[in-house]
Amino acid sequence: MHSFDETCFSIAICFGIAFFICVVPRSCAAQGSWEILVHNAGIASMHTAVTHFGTVILLDRTDIGASQIALPNGNCRDDPNDLTLKHDCTAHSVLFTPESNTIRSLTIATDTWCSSGQFVSNGTLVQTGGDFDGNKKVRYFSPCPPGGSCDWVEASDQNLQQGRWYATNQLLPDGRQIVVGGRDSNAVEFIPANGQAPYDLPFLQQTRDSQMDNFYPFVHLLPDGNLFIFANKDSILYNFKTNTVARNYPTLPGEPRNYPSAGSSVMLPLLASQKFRVAQVLVCGGSHFGAFLKPSAFMPASQTCGRMTVTDPNSTWAIEKMPVRRNMGDMILLPTRDVLIINGASDGCQGWGNAKTPVLNPFRYKPSAAAGRRFSNLTATTIPRMYHSTANLLPDGRILVAGSNTHQFYKLTGKFPTELRIEAFSPAYLSSKTQKYRPTIVNAPTSVSYNAAFKITVTLPNAPKGILELNLASAPFVTHSFAQGQRMLKLAVRKQTTGAKGSVKITATAPPNAVIAPSAYYMLFAVNRGVPSIAAWVHIG
Ligand SMILES: *[C@@H]1O[C@H](CO)[C@@H](O)[C@H](O)[C@H]1NC(C)=O
Ligand SMILES: *[C@@H]1O[C@H](CO)[C@@H](O)[C@H](O)[C@H]1NC(C)=O
Ligand SMILES: *[C@@H]1O[C@H](CO)[C@@H](O)[C@H](O)[C@H]1NC(C)=O
Repeated sequence: MHSFDETCFSIAICFGIAFFICVVPRSCAAQGSWEILVHNAGIASMHTAVTHFGTVILLDRTDIGASQIALPNGNCRDDPNDLTLKHDCTAHSVLFTPESNTIRSLTIATDTWCSSGQFVSNGTLVQTGGDFDGNKKVRYFSPCPPGGSCDWVEASDQNLQQGRWYATNQLLPDGRQIVVGGRDSNAVEFIPANGQAPYDLPFLQQTRDSQMDNFYPFVHLLPDGNLFIFANKDSILYNFKTNTVARNYPTLPGEPRNYPSAGSSVMLPLLASQKFRVAQVLVCGGSHFGAFLKPSAFMPASQTCGRMTVTDPNSTWAIEKMPVRRNMGDMILLPTRDVLIINGASDGCQGWGNAKTPVLNPFRYKPSAAAGRRFSNLTATTIPRMYHSTANLLPDGRILVAGSNTHQFYKLTGKFPTELRIEAFSPAYLSSKTQKYRPTIVNAPTSVSYNAAFKITVTLPNAPKGILELNLASAPFVTHSFAQGQRMLKLAVRKQTTGAKGSVKITATAPPNAVIAPSAYYMLFAVNRGVPSIAAWVHIG
């Protein structure tokens, strides 16, 4: 397998008593690059999601005082319940368009602080909860093409049954989403509820310790139709249809991993070659227990990851060591099926002013490499991204990085100011050296049915060597170092033929069902020798 961001080597001739050759590892430009896209987005994004038009919804909270961007059309918001600014003419959500690097303000009425969400099948972001007047709110954002004027719509009728603050949502095979736990509830509920009352889930209570550690649980929809739910150090296999715990997994050794301890987690890509039956979960980072109770101590963060095949009946956690300690790191499934760990700090924990040492280097984790050889250290940013920062995969393969606000309100000066800049990290697969391998999707269906054969056409600068990969990535809702609803599938390629002028026709099989890929818009990447195309958005199901 070709990969372009391995450590580079320079060969130096060394003279000693004898003449010998030394090989000197050096860091190499091929470790990725950073670019500031917007110097002032107007808000510090706490929650970020990429729509199927490629635009990006950025969302902060409303009771934070004035932001740096006006509401659309000179509007103002009068909210007698707002703690800070009862007459507010500024926006707390914006839409970013990557093609033009432009920002448009959006209108949020109720408080979205530490809320949750998912895109549903038709591409609408259904966004839930928050604090104060937003605690039980359901909000809808139906995206429009760039240049449109789509905006938030807040439900007045259908709202949450329980207050939800720091909950995690997951899109379900039946098209609804489940809302799991949070600060104000040890239960799960469904949106839309369709008459179903919330289910109490004692696991959520059991995993709460004296500094909480069970907020924003890590939730993954497994191939058997159950949910994997992880909170603090423990995890369960949860049947949300019957409200039963099908299995308790072993405790993950080490530090607590959920808010305020802020590790992160991904389900590694599901593979057609394994009939999508095998799911491995990776949990990385976290904070020293007590860091939240005694924030002035800035205790060292976790340096470990746990990886477990959760579909294996005898699973246990395999522990791996990251190059440095990290909490508040976002974990992103790259189109190449590697994991990027980005943002965060090496001490303290989540909360205002609770960390003092940002980690500026992303790491790449290569799941297919041998244990001990999976991490690479990538190019550092210059901008700390700690509490309330986000990272999202864009359809062009870059990682959009936004937010970071370790203060209760907007504080634009001093140490770790409220961060209004939007940056992109381009992994090494986007460097000029890789362009000779980069596929371009010239034709792909806009929607495919489950299990159907479908055709795409790509062009390549040179003839392909072997079969291209087709990887399907969901568009998650990212907040507090966890990408809610993130999943990736490596599809089966049935046939590949190379035609004239570097044109390659590929016949692939769509995901088998809505358990493997809940109906939604996905980014379809063609990957040639470790270099992804720009994704085509495909509606599945
Ligand atoms: C998409 O689904 C959402 C949630 O069910 C609904 O509120 C919205 O109206 C739908 N949008 C369209 C365009 O059908
Ligand atoms: C699980 O582990 C137990 C004890 O080590 C062993 O007896 C059993 O055969 C294992 N089951 C499977 C399916 O590997
Ligand atoms: C990662 O690279 C940075 C330079 O970009 C360096 O300062 C840091 O020490 C490296 N970390 C590790 C663990 O190699």
